[in-house]
Formats: sequence, structure tokens, C-alpha cells
Amino acid sequence: MTAIGAISEMGYVALKSRDLAASVKHANDILGLRTIEESGTKAFLSAQDTHHELVYSKGDVDAIDHFGLIAASRDDLAAIREKVSRGGWKIVSEHPIEDHIEEGFAFVGPEGFTWHVYLAIERHVIRLGGYGPDRFGHINVRAQDPIALKDFLIDTFGFRLSDQIGQDSAFFLRCNNDHHGIAIMKSPSSGLHHFAWQTQSIQDIGRLGDRLARTGNRLAWGPVRHGAGHNIAGYYLEPNGGIIELYADLEQIFDPERKVVVWSEDDLFWLNQWDGNVPWPLFEAGLPALDH
Ligand SMILES: [Fe+2]
Repeated sequence: MTAIGAISEMGYVALKSRDLAASVKHANDILGLRTIEESGTKAFLSAQDTHHELVYSKGDVDAIDHFGLIAASRDDLAAIREKVSRGGWKIVSEHPIEDHIEEGFAFVGPEGFTWHVYLAIERHVIRLGGYGPDRFGHINVRAQDPIALKDFLIDTFGFRLSDQIGQDSAFFLRCNNDHHGIAIMKSPSSGLHHFAWQTQSIQDIGRLGDRLARTGNRLAWGPVRHGAGHNIAGYYLEPNGGIIELYADLEQIFDPERKVVVWSEDDLFWLNQWDGNVPWPLFEAGLPALDH
């Protein structure tokens, strides 16, 4: 992945779960993530050869704890730290807040989201095989002031805007060639709408549907082909109420001059190219941010 700003990759999502065992089992059995390390109160999971792309810890509420972003270099990490100071954002920790990370810090930004910015985790040798996704890909957050959050991501981390829906209905931003690492949707409340995992083909989304059906569950939406991002996606709910997307065929952007694509919000082609169906109640779901 080639960074276009100060962040090279989306790192991980850390969630609180009231039923840690159920969340971990679901991530293992349905999504196909591997548990890399686990204690009674915390579990580190990954799809690839890194220590964690998803962290669950036991909590009194189901919520987002924080988002992990990988800084492109030590200089980029220092530059972000400086901008966070200038922005007056609340620092949660001057040190890494998860294991196996040598350098990083955490702060609370717009909409109450906590960001952990760090230098890449040393690669782990892990068991290969199974049916899991390739890697963690993006988050999609709900924001009360999507323009402010979009500007913050651009100014602080160097994200670039790929697509925009209407004036401020949604923004899709990239930190590398993936069309989006962070998407923002305008909403009456802040929160994580979904987090997404990359896979190779729509066949994998079909197999996910089969695994859900065999365990008495269902896809919540999809497979659909989105307009913005062009990805084929399937969505389902995990036990703590988080929404997970498995996707394939996401647009890759290599042209630094690529213009922002602006979609009309009335034309639902941006959301669903194939059948136009959009399960609107799903858009109110997801997880709130934990106070830090
Ligand atoms: Fe998504």
C-alpha cells in the first residue's frame, strides 16, 4: 500500500463487547478471523500476518473503544502529533495503547471518536488456510457534522476525498489506493456504522451467507454492488450489535489527479447499482463511541 498522506493503512478496530466469548466465536466461525492472543477479558484477532486487526475487550456496554491508524513513517507520526496538539484535541495516551506496538499515541477527535496512531506492528507468522478475509479494509462512521470530520481527516492525517454524496450526506476518503479507508455518513448520532473486510470474490460473500444461514443467522443486506467505491458487499450483524461488511472488487485509485466523484443523493445508484433496494433501518444501527 502506498500512502498518499501521513497514514499508510487502516490498522484495526477496537470494540467493547458485553459478551466477549460470543463476539470472538462469531468472528472466528462466521467471518473466519484467527484469534492471535486471548485472555479472559481481551482478544486480538486478525485476518493476515499481523497481531491484530480487530480487538475485543469485555465491557459493560457494546461500543467502539477506538480506531487504529498506521502512520506512514516516524516523521509522519510526529507531524500528526503536532497537528493534534495544535487542534487542541484531548490526548488519551502519549504511548501505544495496545500490545506489540512500539510507538504511538491516542487522542479523542471530532464526534468523540478515539484514534490510536502508531507505527506498524511487527509481522507475525500465523497459520495459513481457512476461509477468512484477506485483511481489514475500512470503517464507515456516522457523524453529526460530516463536513467537520471530513476536514479533520484531510487536515490531520492527509486523507483524500474520493467520492461525495450530495452536499454533505456522505464522504468517502482514502489514505492509500483503496477507494476508501474511512467513509462518513450524516446522522443524528455519532457512531461506527460498520467495519469492513476485503475478500477476493463475490463467491466468498456467498459462502458467508451460507455460514450465516447454517447458524440460524442472515445477511442483513446484500450482496449489492455499491456505486461509490464500486465494491460488491454483504453485511451482517455480530452478537454485540456491530455491523460487518465483507467486500470484493473495491475501486483502486492510483491516479493522484483523480477527481472527486460527486453523486446526487436522490439517485440511489451510489448505494446500490443492482436492484436499488436499501434497508434504511440498517443505517440507524451500529455502535456508539465510548467516552475516553
Ligand atoms: Fe463499507
